[in-house]
Amino acid sequence: MTEMETLFNPFEPGFTDDPYPAYRMLREHDPVQEHPFGFWILSDHADVVALLRAGHSVDARRTSLGGAAQEQYELLEGDGFNVLNRSMLDRDPPDHTRLRSLVSRVFTPRSIAALEPEITALVDAALDRMAAAGRADLVEELAFPLPFTVISNMLGLPPTDQVRIRDLSGRLVRSLEPVFEPEALTDISQAGAEMTAITRELIGWKRANPADDLLSALIAAEDGGDRLSDDELVAQVVLLYVAGHETTVNLIANGTIALLRHPDQLALLRERPELTGNAVEEFLRYDSPVQQTRRITLKPHVAQGREIPAGAFVIACLASANRDEKFWGPGADALRIDRENARQHVAFSVGPHHCLGAALARLEGRVAFERLVRRFPDLSFAGDVEWNGRINLRGPARLPVAVRA
Ligand code: HEM
Repeated sequence: MTEMETLFNPFEPGFTDDPYPAYRMLREHDPVQEHPFGFWILSDHADVVALLRAGHSVDARRTSLGGAAQEQYELLEGDGFNVLNRSMLDRDPPDHTRLRSLVSRVFTPRSIAALEPEITALVDAALDRMAAAGRADLVEELAFPLPFTVISNMLGLPPTDQVRIRDLSGRLVRSLEPVFEPEALTDISQAGAEMTAITRELIGWKRANPADDLLSALIAAEDGGDRLSDDELVAQVVLLYVAGHETTVNLIANGTIALLRHPDQLALLRERPELTGNAVEEFLRYDSPVQQTRRITLKPHVAQGREIPAGAFVIACLASANRDEKFWGPGADALRIDRENARQHVAFSVGPHHCLGAALARLEGRVAFERLVRRFPDLSFAGDVEWNGRINLRGPARLPVAVRA
């Protein structure tokens, strides 16, 4: 096998429809790959975990390499991102520690658990609409609106132009792609600038109309001292907003596809609904909503005897780690909703940046699958799945299903 054949190439036609054969090839032939585009990519579970726990940087501005890393650097330095790059996702300690602790104080497990009745009502309303129509795009009816409405309501956003925010957010998350066309940089940057402006307006409105919600609590935290600057507030709100729905949509949609492609597992879930929580963990492992994250090495990092130099831009392929036979055993590619160690997936990352919204995503996923599976015994595909073409936040753009209540 030539080096070219084992190169991670997300531009290959069909890659985003099914990236798993390519990840397998990486793990088998070049699990610590130095890519000609200017990044490294780790695809084994043990290497991904070790990298994320090693305390390297998340700040792309610290890279000393060119290539793909340079594009990320330019984005973060550009006008559209000079505010958004203050989100905790792009910051190292001490900023990261301070920002994360502040947001965690208002985004508590209790406040999330209290959302279950609202989430249940939203799911049931979506299922009612699907039942009435008989056929539906599950992304449009359930997987997207559920997390989008929940995070909008949590933040206490006024009924703004949701179509515009949805469009902006979809453009903005392309900044999380490992590689992109040069012309995309301008568009992503413009989306960042517009999103910042809208969020500033929302914060202004909320200052005048405080209520019992997350945004008011974050504003109070800012006003209570100099712990959160204006720009930092904007950046955390956009992060919560975007992370709140651009990821969970894929959990619900990818999980549904996985079940429909494995009727035995769907039947098992119907028979044993108490497995739903574990099934959600297995969906996160089997087809991860966020396929990768990245770190900039602060010092040389050794993986499988290879030394990655300091200043390197390293992609940790979470989705590949979640299918690594060396960790999961020979059944790694199988969907098994009763897999005992499913929770050891790295879909929410590990280490200091472990997903802050994991409890919310798990709750939304559990309620959605509990109700969906119980309500529609005949749930089936009603057309081809259309993938969104993203390498990182990968999921379907359209998922046509037929239902009979
Ligand atoms: C961070 C995945 C849902 C908020 C992360 C990271 C991953 C991730 C992989 C860490 C990135 C890294 O280590 O570099 C997911 C998945 C989700 C999900 C798979 C759904 C299935 C949510 C939700 C929210 C949220 C619902 C909030 C409403 C955050 C925040 C961070 C984060 C604030 C930054 C944490 C930090 O930098 O310290 N998420 N996420 N996520 N996520 Fe999520």
